[in-house]
Amino acid sequence: MKLWSGRFAKETDALVNDFNASIQFDQRLYKEDITGSMAHAKMLGDCGVIPQADAAAIREGLSGILADVEAGKVEFTADNEDIHMNVEALLTARIGDAGKRLHTARSRNDQVALDFRMYVRREIPVITGQIVEFLDVLANQAAKYQTAVMPGYTHLQRAQPISFAHHLLAYAAMLSRDVTRLEDCGKRLNECPLGSGALAGTTYPIDRWETARELGFDAPMGNSLDGVSDRDYALELLSALSILMMHLSRFAEEVILWCSWEFKFIDLDDAYATGSSIMPQKKNPDVAELVRGKTGRVYGDLMGLLTAMKGLPLAYNKDMQEDKEPVFDAIDTVEMCLPVFSAMIGTMTVHPENMRRAAGHGFINATDCADYLTKKGMPFRDAYTTVGHLVALCGQKGKTLEELSLDELRSASPLFDEDVYDALKLENCMALRGSYGGPAVSETTRQIKTVRAFTAARKQKLRK
Ligand code: ARG
Repeated sequence: MKLWSGRFAKETDALVNDFNASIQFDQRLYKEDITGSMAHAKMLGDCGVIPQADAAAIREGLSGILADVEAGKVEFTADNEDIHMNVEALLTARIGDAGKRLHTARSRNDQVALDFRMYVRREIPVITGQIVEFLDVLANQAAKYQTAVMPGYTHLQRAQPISFAHHLLAYAAMLSRDVTRLEDCGKRLNECPLGSGALAGTTYPIDRWETARELGFDAPMGNSLDGVSDRDYALELLSALSILMMHLSRFAEEVILWCSWEFKFIDLDDAYATGSSIMPQKKNPDVAELVRGKTGRVYGDLMGLLTAMKGLPLAYNKDMQEDKEPVFDAIDTVEMCLPVFSAMIGTMTVHPENMRRAAGHGFINATDCADYLTKKGMPFRDAYTTVGHLVALCGQKGKTLEELSLDELRSASPLFDEDVYDALKLENCMALRGSYGGPAVSETTRQIKTVRAFTAARKQKLRK
């Protein structure tokens, strides 16, 4: 018999029973549900809403249920619809009438809002912890390749010289923002919806501050209607995870390019690559491709929930039961992607010689050549045009800029001198880019330090 069967004259249709149930997926929230109920029962006892003896019996019963769920001894049933009613029914079966007092001054609407919020809050440090590990891997790899010159690209055309360290540190900057974005989400969500009731609060003399404190929240949510209607925290999480996956996907795309024969900037470790069933020579970057592919499903999770929420009048609507699967899916996907991607990057073999060879073609020192003339007094726009002519000349002669003779260079401008050859050396071009945030070793050293300080601070916080 349903907990809510009072006003019904008929049994629920079997199809509706299954269709309506969410226990298949929301059983994941068992711990949050039980912890939330324990805090609620304690508060009801403390405020004199239920007898203290009942509150104690409820708490004891719930901790027994928690232990049994964790030991795999509990079977949930779709007949009890969701995790909330499954736990309540189990409790009443175990302790009798006291169990029936648990739902005083509460609704499943504030209950589910609480459970889900606590679940998201619990997963945030798991994910930021994984990102922090990845940041350490990036800092270590970057430290090894600070003088490895590679072409930086725009439009996937060789553009200006950078180092491999500089390139990796760009991803470190992006992933650091992912960490702080998730931390922001964690801070903002930390208000407690419990006590909002179905939507309109309650007539019982409850203490919402007590339950908020007990459950580690900064405060109760200030509006009971908002308390049960809000899923912003889930959407913020999904947004942050979508952006994180977008970063991983761009990185994945570059890894795929870099390990192609056309680039060969890196080789993936055999343990992080896969073979072909027909082509004996193949070594494929499946891990990177899957991360790129799974980015789509995380975006889908975000779009699914945004769309489910967009037309809902306040307060709770059953549509909102659809909030959990996309969030679970996105969390599972991200938590699967991060460690494997990080290990792939940590174990790859880097080929600085191939990066250097690629950097040697494509006139990536053309800006430096123009800067050379500018430093000798020519306005930049004129220098730009002059070097453009030289690049065209190189095209005709099949030469690079540094292969042009001084006479050939002087045919474009008399300002060229012997020292131009030093100015055109890629190692110098990179080393001289010491502006704040640039690829010069002094600057990549600073960036590596910043990343290490960032991860050290997080590791200390996570340990607490
Ligand atoms: N299983 C429901 C959900 O996940 C719990 C809240 C149900 N509330 C209600 N009024 N039917 O959204």
